Amino acid sequence: MTFELPHNSPLTKPGFIYGVATAAFQIEGANTADGRCESIWDRFCATPDKVHNGDDGAIACDHYHRLEQDLDLIQSLGMDAYRFSVAWPRIEPAPDQWNEAGFEFYERLIDGLIARGIKPYLTLYHWDLPQYLEDKGGWINRETAYRFVRYAEKITERFGNKVVSYCTFNEPLCTAFVGYRWGIHAPGYADHKLGYQAAHHVLLAHGLALPYMRKNAPEAEHGIVLNFTPAYPHEDTAADLEAVEYSDDADGFWFLHPLMTAEYPSRVVQQDAVFMPVILPGDMEIIARPIDFLGINYYSRRVVKANAQGLPEQVHNEHPKTDIGWEIYPDGLTHLTQKITRCYARLPPLLITENGAADNTEPENGEINDTMRVNYYQQHLLAVHNAIESGVDIRGYFAWSLMDNFEWAYGYSMRFGIVYVDYQNQQRTLKRSGQSWQQFLQHRTTR
Ligand code: FCB
Repeated sequence: MTFELPHNSPLTKPGFIYGVATAAFQIEGANTADGRCESIWDRFCATPDKVHNGDDGAIACDHYHRLEQDLDLIQSLGMDAYRFSVAWPRIEPAPDQWNEAGFEFYERLIDGLIARGIKPYLTLYHWDLPQYLEDKGGWINRETAYRFVRYAEKITERFGNKVVSYCTFNEPLCTAFVGYRWGIHAPGYADHKLGYQAAHHVLLAHGLALPYMRKNAPEAEHGIVLNFTPAYPHEDTAADLEAVEYSDDADGFWFLHPLMTAEYPSRVVQQDAVFMPVILPGDMEIIARPIDFLGINYYSRRVVKANAQGLPEQVHNEHPKTDIGWEIYPDGLTHLTQKITRCYARLPPLLITENGAADNTEPENGEINDTMRVNYYQQHLLAVHNAIESGVDIRGYFAWSLMDNFEWAYGYSMRFGIVYVDYQNQQRTLKRSGQSWQQFLQHRTTR
C-alpha cells in the first residue's frame, strides 16, 4: 500500500518538502535530566483529573535517551525534514540561567539530522512553559513575552543557519484558548478574558522575537504555525453562513488576521468586547511583522448553525471520524488554504506543518494495519494537490506524528504515530502507514 497522486503532481517535484513532526514534551521523557526544570505540563499532569489516566511525560517515548535510533528511523522513512520542538525548561531552567547540557542535547539532534541529510525545522514553543514563569502569571503576564524573546535569541544565536526553518509558536490558539480560556490544557484556567490576554501576549512575543531571530539566522526562514478547524454551514441560510464566518474568525483567524493586517477580526471584537485584552500602542504593528512562511495544522472541520443570538453552535454528524472523534474531511484542507490565500495579499508561502489521524489499531502478529490512517494520508495528500493546482502556494507537508506519543489531555490513549511505540519496552515498529510513507518517498519523483 502506498499513496497515489495524479501524474506530474506538484507533490512529486523534488523541491516539495516531506517531513514528520513531534514535540518535546510529547516524546522526550527525561524530565529531570540535565537540570531541566518543571514545566506547566508536568504540573498539569500531576494535578488530579486533568490528564486521562493520570498519564504524564516523565518517560513518554524516552526519546531523550534514544535520540540516535529515532533519527535513524526518520532517515529510514526517507523524510526530507524533521519538525521538532525545543523544551524551554531544558534551556533556561531558572531565570537567566542558560543550561549548556540542554543546548547540547538539541545540538546533537540538529547535527544528527544534518549528518543524515535531513533538514531541521525547529519550533521554539510547543506548550511547555517553565513553571517558574507561570508562577508569575505565565502568558497573562506581558513580561513572559520579553522572556520568550531572550530565549529565542539564545537558541538562534547557538544554532544559527544550521536550522533551515524556525517557528516561534506552535498553535497559539491552544496555548491561549485551550490553556487559559477553556481550561483543558495547562495551566488550566477557564476565563475568557485571560484567554484573550494570553493570546495577545503570545502574538506579541512572536513579533518581538522575529528581528533577533533574523539577525542570528539570516539564511533561515522564520514563521509561525497556526491551527484551524474551518467551519461549514449546517444549512445554506444567511444566518448559518454568517455563523460560519464568525466561527472562523473566533478560531484560527483570530490569530492569522492580526498577523496579516495588524487588526483583530472585528465581528469577534464587537461580540466579545468585554473580554478584549490590554493592547499597548505599537503592539499590533509588532505582531504584523512579515514572516517567511505560515505553518498550517489541519485535522478536521466543524459544522455550525446559528443559535438564537446568531452565534455559531456546533452540529454533530454521522460522518466517519478518527479514533479521537474528529470528522475526516479532506476537502477542508483545500478550502481552508484557498480561503486564506483569497483573504490575504501579503500571505507568505504555506507549509502543512501537521496533519494526521488518531488510529489506535494495535499490533496483530507483529503488524499494525492502520488502514484508516493510510487512507487519511492518501486523501489529505490529494487535498493538498488540489489546493496547489488551484493556485495555493504550499511548499511542504509534515505528517503528525513520527511516533505514538503523549497526546496532551488524552495521555497515551490516542495514537497518532506512523511508528508504533510499545510503552512497556519502548520498542518502535513501523506501522502500515509508515511503510506507505517509506514506499511513497522512495518513488515519489518517478511518478
Ligand atoms: C495538535 C498539536 C500536536 C498534537 C496534534 C494531534 O494540536 O500541535 O502536538 O497533539 O494536535
